[in-house]
Amino acid sequence: MSEYDIIIVGSGAAGLTAAIALADHCRVLVLAKGELTGGSTAWAQGGIAAVLDAGDTFENHIEDTMVAGAGLNRRETVEFVVENAPHAIERLIEMGVPFNKEAEALHLTREGGHSHRRIVHVDDATGWAVQAALLKTAEAHANITLLPGQACIDLITGRHEERYSGSGRVWGVYALDESTGTVHAHVGRATILASGGAGRVYQFSTAPRGATGDGIAMAWRAGARVSNMEMMQFHPTCLYNLEVKNFLITEAVRGEGGILKHPVTGHRYMPDYDERAELAPRDVVARANDDQIKRSGLDFVHLDISHKDPDFVAGHFPNIYEKLLTLGIDMTKQPIPVVPAQHYTCGGILIDLAGRTDLPGLYAAGECTESGLHGANRLASNSLLECFVFGEAAAKDIIARWDQLDAPPPIRPWDESRVTDSDEEVVIKQNWTEIRRFMWNYVGIVRTTKRLERAQHRIKMMTGEIEDYYGHFRVTTDLIELRNLLQCADLIVKSALHRKESRGLHYTLDYPALLPEAVDTVLVP
Ligand code: FAD
Ligand code: SIN
Repeated sequence: MSEYDIIIVGSGAAGLTAAIALADHCRVLVLAKGELTGGSTAWAQGGIAAVLDAGDTFENHIEDTMVAGAGLNRRETVEFVVENAPHAIERLIEMGVPFNKEAEALHLTREGGHSHRRIVHVDDATGWAVQAALLKTAEAHANITLLPGQACIDLITGRHEERYSGSGRVWGVYALDESTGTVHAHVGRATILASGGAGRVYQFSTAPRGATGDGIAMAWRAGARVSNMEMMQFHPTCLYNLEVKNFLITEAVRGEGGILKHPVTGHRYMPDYDERAELAPRDVVARANDDQIKRSGLDFVHLDISHKDPDFVAGHFPNIYEKLLTLGIDMTKQPIPVVPAQHYTCGGILIDLAGRTDLPGLYAAGECTESGLHGANRLASNSLLECFVFGEAAAKDIIARWDQLDAPPPIRPWDESRVTDSDEEVVIKQNWTEIRRFMWNYVGIVRTTKRLERAQHRIKMMTGEIEDYYGHFRVTTDLIELRNLLQCADLIVKSALHRKESRGLHYTLDYPALLPEAVDTVLVP
């Protein structure tokens, strides 16, 4: 067992922001599955939204966020995040993030749903620069211990205390050490889940391999409410390539003039769907691309920016340009084949403005949460921002409540006395593939009640099999993830069946209208 003051699950933007904000006050352990750079943060391309231009206002950013979120957002959260954005950017600059500049001022690019230029970025690889700066700062702090290769399995709560308690108090996590195969308890006065999204529940996703909703599933199993899980965001423009399956083509390509075209007729179709054309919010553009593909039996649509100056295109999107060249596509001269793919988990663990969950001692921040910021559809480049604002908010709340946070009591070690090594790994692979396929086909961009019920039926059948497997065999990362993927699939489908309207990302042919009132879907364990 290891004991620190605070346990943080996740080394992305949310986890490291919280760790850095806490480290002058207490000893922090940051756990990560696989490598420290394995989350979505390192993959972010477009940038971070903040009101920094003289002609822009907080009110504009708030309004754009609420319009994209189809009114499901909690206004106080939107105001809190938007108003804290310039401070978050300042902190990142202090930590050394080399944001692009133009004539000494920060260069602001534009993305769908934004009425103004307000996205700061580092070329087209913002996430990598942010991840590197946060890691460097965290590594330099004596009070932060970074421990990669730890797959957290479940939260440690009152029922794991040596003297059982039904309080629901969270004391840390049980985690599998991926190099030794042993499970350890890591305990502290408070725990922060910053474990990212659940994108890999879908067959096609821009998210990294580890985005399996572990934190959401752990919090749910421990008794925390989750909200708006039906709001899964699909990005309109993921590269279509038979070998490279999840390479994103940033929204900023459309922000800088890229046009979507029918690949056979060359018709620019977005104005037929929405007056904002290519710069409509993501749900609108993703549905339009899906519609074009299904209507004409296409494999992909075209995203074309070849009408712009080649030096501007290659200079503005150097990483995408180089990557596409290796695949035989010169984006300065020809269109890029693209398809929609799952991109972001808008729902998650319900938190308040201080990052507190329902469970005493448990905080959460970033993509694993539902803070009220995104509503029914996240506005582009608002998610890294949410990580910085809530990572810091959770840290501040912990520091403010320090005197009320007791030291952990003795905890029972992980019990492996009734399990053996698996002799049927094929069960895991089979179920992984099956979940991701039926979620894509039945719970995708356009839904129907019948398809959702088909998915629910499969989830029920698989639940028994996977729980049985989990109860008999020693845990592996794949098994931990499979159990969580299925749990998240269940939460998504239950939430989708519950919503009897089409709002934002949840679009169902059986209830195409918008209900007069925007109400969160809140699932109670
Ligand atoms: P992540 O960065 O995903 O980190 C999750 C962490 O949790 C990782 O360290 C992981 O190892 C750890 N973890 C997970 N499960 C476990 C477990 N069981 N045990 C231990 N550790 C665990 N947003 C923007 O605002 N702007 C953009 O330009 C942008 N571009 C994007 C491009 C791509 C391709 C993708 C996929 C997303 C993009 N997003 C963007 C979204 C944004 O990157 C993410 O929402 C954000 O980075 C999430 O940060 P996080 O800290 O919540 O989680
Ligand atoms: C992108 O660069 O298109 C992704 C931006 C985001 O997800 O916010």
